Amino acid sequence: MITPDLHPQLERRVLRTLRGRPTSDGAGVKLTRIIGQPALGELDPFLLLDEFRSDAPSEYLAGFPEHPHRGFETVTYMLAGRMRHADSQGNAGVLEPGGIQWMTAGRGILHSEMPEQRDGLLWGFQLWVNLPAAEKGRAPRYQDVGADRIAEVRAPGAAVRVLVGAFGTAVGPVRDVATDPTYLDVRLEPGAELDVPLPAGHRAFAYVYDGGVRIGPQSQTGVRGELAILSDGTHVRLNGEADGARLLLVAGRPLGEPIARYGPIVMNTEAELQAAFDDLRNGRFA
Ligand code: CO
Repeated sequence: MITPDLHPQLERRVLRTLRGRPTSDGAGVKLTRIIGQPALGELDPFLLLDEFRSDAPSEYLAGFPEHPHRGFETVTYMLAGRMRHADSQGNAGVLEPGGIQWMTAGRGILHSEMPEQRDGLLWGFQLWVNLPAAEKGRAPRYQDVGADRIAEVRAPGAAVRVLVGAFGTAVGPVRDVATDPTYLDVRLEPGAELDVPLPAGHRAFAYVYDGGVRIGPQSQTGVRGELAILSDGTHVRLNGEADGARLLLVAGRPLGEPIARYGPIVMNTEAELQAAFDDLRNGRFA
């Protein structure tokens, strides 16, 4: 006999792991595309995840000169190096290590993202998060958050930077996002165990960017460069491997809407996509 539990605690497990694909984008920036590649086109509501990490200026100096976005949000999180951002509406700023920029493109912007350095390590991530149909036409918005405004929650052998959403007593500074996301940067010492609540029903993944971690009840291992797609549930258990681990833990409410995308424009239908490129060609974009 099964007794119904009104508040079931369900541990998330690993459904699948995969590696990113080396590619280049912008004017020739070398990067690894983890979501938005043949092996994983999207993970609703997430459309793309890139990691850029290089200390060879020839691999990043060309940057991402002016390009459009419409219909979704771009999220840039820097670990090392600095990136200058400027757009067609006069917004500009420099993204610094440990800081995050949550840019809601909405009905459209034209912007550039260029390294603010001639040499040294440039390391960070860009995540694309879809917008529901009702918000694809909204006004663009920026949430730029410096490292000093991001809380780090300590647990035995672990530290969690809370960029978006909640962990422990901290709530991240990025607010009012349609898909109600969680974006945590987790550091685990060797052998440390950490249990992280994630909202039930939200699509979630872990991306390991250093070391190795065992995830979930089957202790499936994820190592540097691996994405682990998680099952639904209320929480996920993480254990640091021998070298410890650093990983992004990200979740968001799936939209369940049709996707029509081409490059930096993401709409719901082919007709909307055609109209968007029409607007772009005719200078009606930003
Ligand atoms: Co961009």
